[in-house]
Amino acid sequence: MNKNLYIETYGCQMNIADSEVIASVMAEHGYSQVQDITRAGIILINTCSIRENAEQKIWNRLKEIRSLKRKNRKIIVGLTGCMAERLKEELLEKELIIDIIAGPDAYRDLPALAKEAENGRKAVNITLSRCETYSDISPAYDENGGISAFIPIMRGCNNMCSYCVVPYVRGAERSRDPDSILKEAGDLVRRGFREITLLGQNVDSYKYISGNQVTEFHHLIEKVAMTDRLLRVRFTTSHPKDISQELLRTIARNENICRHIHLPVQSGSSRILQLMNRGYTREDYFSRISAIRNIIPDCSISTDIITGFCTETEEDHEETLSLMKWAEFDFAYMFRYSERPGTRAARRLKDDVPEEIKLRRLNEIISLQNSLSKKSKRHDIGKVFEVLTEGFSKRSADSLTGRTSQNKVVVFPGSGKKKGDYVNVLIEDCTSATLKGRII
Ligand code: 5AD
Ligand code: SF4
Repeated sequence: MNKNLYIETYGCQMNIADSEVIASVMAEHGYSQVQDITRAGIILINTCSIRENAEQKIWNRLKEIRSLKRKNRKIIVGLTGCMAERLKEELLEKELIIDIIAGPDAYRDLPALAKEAENGRKAVNITLSRCETYSDISPAYDENGGISAFIPIMRGCNNMCSYCVVPYVRGAERSRDPDSILKEAGDLVRRGFREITLLGQNVDSYKYISGNQVTEFHHLIEKVAMTDRLLRVRFTTSHPKDISQELLRTIARNENICRHIHLPVQSGSSRILQLMNRGYTREDYFSRISAIRNIIPDCSISTDIITGFCTETEEDHEETLSLMKWAEFDFAYMFRYSERPGTRAARRLKDDVPEEIKLRRLNEIISLQNSLSKKSKRHDIGKVFEVLTEGFSKRSADSLTGRTSQNKVVVFPGSGKKKGDYVNVLIEDCTSATLKGRII
């Protein structure tokens, strides 16, 4: 049996972290990861269902993998993650090359599923769990001088935003034992990692109760930050209805917690926010942004926006544009609404904004965000930032690249510095995507 394992990952950072858990579980059973798909005995595609085009990409990829399987029938092909959870046996029926289906809470079972598949049986486990956090599994981190790692601190989601498939494919929210998170952070520091991103669908609702001790997110992040002052700590994703003053104060008093908050707004219209079941209004969002700006004046703020949600009018869209101008986001991920089967919006609301209008509105918000992103970068010219060096720049071998605490990419001439070094960089110029400067 060829025990070479090839994993291909789609979707969010959580899925990247999950692929490391999968690699670790499989390594315990003698599978070793390869980077070349043609050497693989087992191919696992870790999938995403968030939007229709995410799934479409994976259907197309499966067509390519079909030809590998035709050449070598012994190759085992497995689908893991959100799409596996959502489409279940339907995938096995439609796509005959698939041998294994494993949902996000079934990764411990993968070696057994692989055995079943080796014996010629289709193997499925899509059971969602109330308690699985994989807390005892040490993820297979990149050992090749990696400096940045993700630590999932919770799984699942209880928010029930009406457009979102995540609660259905990842199950109910559960927080991971803080001791296992701190142990993992300590291990990473000892192995030379310099940046940790704490991951959860809604980190602000992290809560772990042990006896009479309650650990909330702001306690947890401060403990992680105290592991080593040379470690940078990031986190994602925050929720406007839950982000707390305590968290903002914790960030403000810990210099190594990065000055960047990803705070998805989704829409600038309170009516649409209510239909999305987001739990806050436009005004609530304004007051969250004001609190961030008051407590952490040098904090950058990024967001997610969905355009063309059910019943969205031109006025609603204008409200999104005006909110963006007011908030002056440093960065944004922008999407047009894509109906996901089974969600509350799919069941109760009509996807009634024509595709060409969704697209036109999306283009308008993208173009506004481009100018806001440029403004945010121009604002940094003349300032000095501490940059964590990540490696050589792709464009020029003499230049290094890294990020500021605010998560902005900086390119600067190297002069003997290397990956993992902190340097102070004076920003002298910018392009649409990066800041440019020199070490001082
Ligand atoms: N359609 C479009 N965008 C979506 N997102 C989540 N669900 C959908 C959907 N059905 C976006 C949201 C979320 C980000 C991860 O993906 O903006 O914050
Ligand atoms: Fe991540 Fe959501 Fe995609 Fe699942 S559906 S991989 S949780 S983005």
